Amino acid sequence: MGIDKNELRRVMGHFATGVTVVTTRAANGKFHGLTANALTSVSLVPALLLVCIDKQAESYPCFAESKLFTVNVLDDSQEELSRRFAVSGGDKFEGVGYRLGANGVPILEGVLAHLECRIVDAHDAGDHTIYIGEVEYAETREGKPLLFFRGGYRSMGD
Ligand SMILES: Cc1cc2nc3c(=O)[nH]c(=O)nc-3n(C[C@H](O)[C@H](O)[C@H](O)COP(=O)(O)O)c2cc1C
Repeated sequence: MGIDKNELRRVMGHFATGVTVVTTRAANGKFHGLTANALTSVSLVPALLLVCIDKQAESYPCFAESKLFTVNVLDDSQEELSRRFAVSGGDKFEGVGYRLGANGVPILEGVLAHLECRIVDAHDAGDHTIYIGEVEYAETREGKPLLFFRGGYRSMGD
């Protein structure tokens, strides 16, 4: 018998992470994005990272359709953006500043870092799919990260 999902979420919440918005686009060109902290660096050569995407997410089909995603690492001033992209429905990009990367996927304004990825592999994993992305371009800027710990948003030094 496994651990209850709420208990697992509570315990895993003790593993502090940064917060990202992973953006992608649908086959019809519509942009999608979701807040995600299941992000891991996988390999340096080749440059690979992974994100875990919930099969129930509205944006889920776009990953397989486009084979593209961009990881936007949020700055500590971007909690509202994180909240916005953590709720399904509507046009999450309305009123949000962004530009398009070389891959045609939105890069959110003011993020601490972004990584443009092409999906090179996918692994079925329970209620999520693990997407392995090859990093084609990445950039950083100055700032402090938004953090997530014990189910709440934090800043460095809290
Ligand atoms: C801090 C935080 C981290 C999250 N991490 C993930 C994640 O790694 N993968 C995921 O699929 N959903 C994650 N979620 C939940 C999604 O953001 C949420 O289900 C969202 O509504 C999905 O958007 P969509 O249905 O428009 O695709 C996270 C939510 C929060 C608040």
